[in-house]
Amino acid sequence: MADLPQPTARRQRSHFNNWISASGGVLAAGALFSFAFLVWMDFSQHEKNPYLGILTYLVAPAFLIAGIAMVLTGAWMQRRYALKHAGDRPDRWQIDLGDLRHRRFAIGFAVGGVLFLILSAFGSYQTYHYSESTAFCGQVCHQAMNPELVAYQHGAHARVDCVECHIGSGAEWFVKAKINGTHQLIAYITDRYNRPIATPIKNLRPAQDICEKCHWPEKFHGNVEINFTHFLSDKKNTAYTARMLMHVNKSQPGAPLGGIHWHISATDRVEYYAADEKRQDIPWMRVTNTKNGTARIFRTEAFKGEPPADRIRVMDCMDCHNRPAHVFPTANETVEKAMANGSLSTALPNLKRVAVQAMLQKEITTEQNAPEKIAEFLTAKYAGAPELAETIAEVQRLYATTIFPERKADWRVYPNNIGHKDWLGCFRCHDDKHKTSAGQTVSASDCTSCHTIISQGKGVQLESLSAKGLAFEHPGGELDPDLSCSDCHNGGIQGK
Ligand code: HEC
Ligand code: HEC
Ligand code: HEC
Ligand code: HEC
Ligand code: HEC
Ligand code: HEC
Repeated sequence: MADLPQPTARRQRSHFNNWISASGGVLAAGALFSFAFLVWMDFSQHEKNPYLGILTYLVAPAFLIAGIAMVLTGAWMQRRYALKHAGDRPDRWQIDLGDLRHRRFAIGFAVGGVLFLILSAFGSYQTYHYSESTAFCGQVCHQAMNPELVAYQHGAHARVDCVECHIGSGAEWFVKAKINGTHQLIAYITDRYNRPIATPIKNLRPAQDICEKCHWPEKFHGNVEINFTHFLSDKKNTAYTARMLMHVNKSQPGAPLGGIHWHISATDRVEYYAADEKRQDIPWMRVTNTKNGTARIFRTEAFKGEPPADRIRVMDCMDCHNRPAHVFPTANETVEKAMANGSLSTALPNLKRVAVQAMLQKEITTEQNAPEKIAEFLTAKYAGAPELAETIAEVQRLYATTIFPERKADWRVYPNNIGHKDWLGCFRCHDDKHKTSAGQTVSASDCTSCHTIISQGKGVQLESLSAKGLAFEHPGGELDPDLSCSDCHNGGIQGK
């Protein structure tokens, strides 16, 4: 009979036998389970998400460590208690299955534990999905990315998730994006991100891979028609429209239908060297025929040496479409769009100019003081006008969706390279100033190589169309061939 358990044997039981350690054990098991599940997703998912890395390798292990810490703490407390009371009292947190109350509690505990395991798997799955949603990118990182989110919602790609472009697929880019995503989150939490967020993004995967998932390059042929509607800075806010055919086809230069997308053709590779970070100053470029290997180098007169080899970039979609999803339109363009769609009245004299001025006031320093300053400015100009209230509300809205003073984000820091009016854009290279050793240039002065103007003049809708194409009639007077459009047009008040 001596080997039957004695009542005092309780005290010699493991110190781990207690409720705190048991809870810690369940927590640790749940975390381990989630961790295993996330690692499995991490390696098996095709659509990759860098924030999954944060969940998998930071959050789940943190819970695991917390669980293990609880197990140890429970045992330590139990031991301390046992030593202090030297066995004269039963252990404090010990699980005693002989006790009915404990037994009931233990059943509840076991059920709760299993539920917890299931929920932690479900929870990590949900969190994973949430972290790759547009809401997470644009809203949780609210202050940092709000400008991009707002601009994105007004763009052609508003139905394309941020991660489609910013992460894409493929293991190599996934790893890069994951490391980068972790960096970004830390920069965000510690409030140490750049304002504005710097572009171009170095870790963006090559654009052609991304874009060609949806845009099939063989489809580029013929013309795309665009109506550019403006409103002049005169008393009547006169509308002025240029209707143009953009030659978006992909044929070779010099071909009868030479077109815009030849830069990404299979037979020619265009490379360039930009002297600045924003890729606006391009003194050197090289066109290589990939079939026979012959190359032509174009350079500006001022650029003598050779560009650093690691800074030579192969031209791709993003060199022209650098703002595919989140365009920051200029103040000028924003006001014109609102006038064209009728949300800003053209009845108020000089409103085109005044509205742009209202948006560009130096006194506006924060998102919060903008509405008030805009209201004061417009009231001073148009007090008593029946359209005043709606005009104020609309200009406030235009401001809030295009200019972000705290993050210093607007068109002035994020150039759009697609055209040549407000930024250099195409004219970074097409300026008649880059020459080959044989004296060949890339033309800007041939205004018909990229587009044909089929109609132009005052009004929003133009009736007469020209099949042959028209020479541009500049509403701001005779064009000076020595000036680039962007020397005068900068998105603010024209000609200044
Ligand atoms: C259609 C592709 C595409 C989509 C969709 C997209 N982006 Fe971008 N994003 C880009 C490109 C291209 C750049 C780089 C621009 C450059 O280098 O000039 C960029 C740059 C950025 C930058 C750097 C700052 C800036 O404005 O240049 C941030 C921040 C950003 N994107 C956030 C987002 C967020 C948030 C979303 C979703 C709400 C999103 N992006 C959706 C293509 C995309
Ligand atoms: C997930 C699919 C998807 C990806 C990836 C994608 N696009 Fe698009 N893109 C679309 C769709 C859909 C439209 C048409 C939107 C519409 O008609 O309103 C579009 C429209 C466009 C347009 C016409 C824009 C306009 O204002 O009408 C351009 C230019 C464009 N995309 C360029 C790009 C570039 C450059 C990239 C790579 C950085 C890219 N797209 C990546 C789906 C995509
Ligand atoms: C040399 C500059 C340049 C490059 C490089 C370039 N594009 Fe374009 N793309 C343009 C211009 C200019 C237009 C005409 C539309 C405009 O002016 O907004 C256009 C139009 C488009 C359109 C709209 C066509 C339509 O039918 O509505 C799509 C889509 C597009 N590009 C996708 C791409 C993709 C994808 C790539 C890379 C594989 C690419 N582009 C490379 C300049 C370029
Ligand atoms: C990085 C420099 C660079 C940029 C930026 C650039 N191009 Fe080009 N483009 C070239 C070069 C180089 C050629 C080839 C010239 C040659 O072979 O003679 C060329 C040729 C062309 C051609 C063919 C001309 C012909 O003779 O048929 C068109 C059209 C064109 N570009 C349109 C554009 C448009 C539109 C943009 C802006 C959206 C643009 N390019 C931006 C470098 C550039
Ligand atoms: C290298 C190609 C190229 C050349 C050369 C070129 N353009 Fe353009 N131009 C473009 C592109 C691309 C756009 C469209 C920009 C956009 O989609 O926003 C454009 C747009 C325009 C617009 C409409 C802009 C607006 O916002 O209303 C006018 C006007 C214009 N070009 C005039 C000219 C004139 C004048 C010349 C000759 C001095 C010229 N272009 C030479 C590529 C070119
Ligand atoms: C010497 C300065 C100067 C140069 C260079 C210049 N512009 Fe203008 N432009 C003006 C002025 C001033 C107006 C009239 C603005 C107004 O009434 O709002 C104007 C008006 C326009 C307008 C209609 C109104 C508007 O707000 O957009 C277009 C389109 C335009 N210019 C395109 C171009 C193009 C394309 C080029 C280059 C080929 C160019 N401009 C070069 C000064 C200039």
